[in-house]
Amino acid sequence: MIHKEKTLVIIKPDGVQRTLIGEIIRRYERVGLKLIGLKMIVPTLEQAKAHYLVNPDFPKNVGNKTKKAYEAEGKEFPFPSVEEFGLGILHKNAQYFSSGPVVVMAWQGLGAVGLVRKITGGTEPINSDVGTIRGDFTLDSYAMADTSERSIRNLVHASGSIEEADKELALWFTKEELLNYRLIADEILYDVNLDGILE
Ligand code: CDP
Ligand code: MG
Repeated sequence: MIHKEKTLVIIKPDGVQRTLIGEIIRRYERVGLKLIGLKMIVPTLEQAKAHYLVNPDFPKNVGNKTKKAYEAEGKEFPFPSVEEFGLGILHKNAQYFSSGPVVVMAWQGLGAVGLVRKITGGTEPINSDVGTIRGDFTLDSYAMADTSERSIRNLVHASGSIEEADKELALWFTKEELLNYRLIADEILYDVNLDGILE
């Protein structure tokens, strides 16, 4: 069904350390999305790597995206090759992800993947829109992260496409851990008629 789209969100170690768990969950919950899976864990380095490699092109894609971001600001991409840079980010991301507790969540609703990305904001917090989680609660930049040879700390991971969401959900949750249930609010969001409000 159209309103059953699912997506994966992970509050990264910096989000947990900044004590933003409640604030972040609230942002996705208040728009009308339904929380259908939730756990707190410390990922292993291997789990973290596997998470980014659900798309084997991750190193190349992340390298190209970063190069574009540098060029958009009129700066030169300060690394010898896009692929090499991407592999470095994969390694750093795995360290970042496995450095402490994270909160893994599955959210469901109409256009869940895109809606969660909209609420989350762009990858680089300093340029993420006001009103988004990454824009409102932190300030990291590509340049600052690259200078100190670490991953950009942007509080949350959110699946980038339906295909990515399906693969990532299968990685972090068993089928039984994703709950199937109705919320009272679903009736006002999705049902055709409004019978049953007035007594
Ligand atoms: O997380 P998002 O989908 O917005 O971005 P991505 O391109 O899929 O990259 C995944 C993660 O890698 C980002 O959220 C950053 O934490 C990290 N990254 C980084 O540290 N430095 C870059 N130049 C690009 C990405
Ligand atoms: Mg991504």
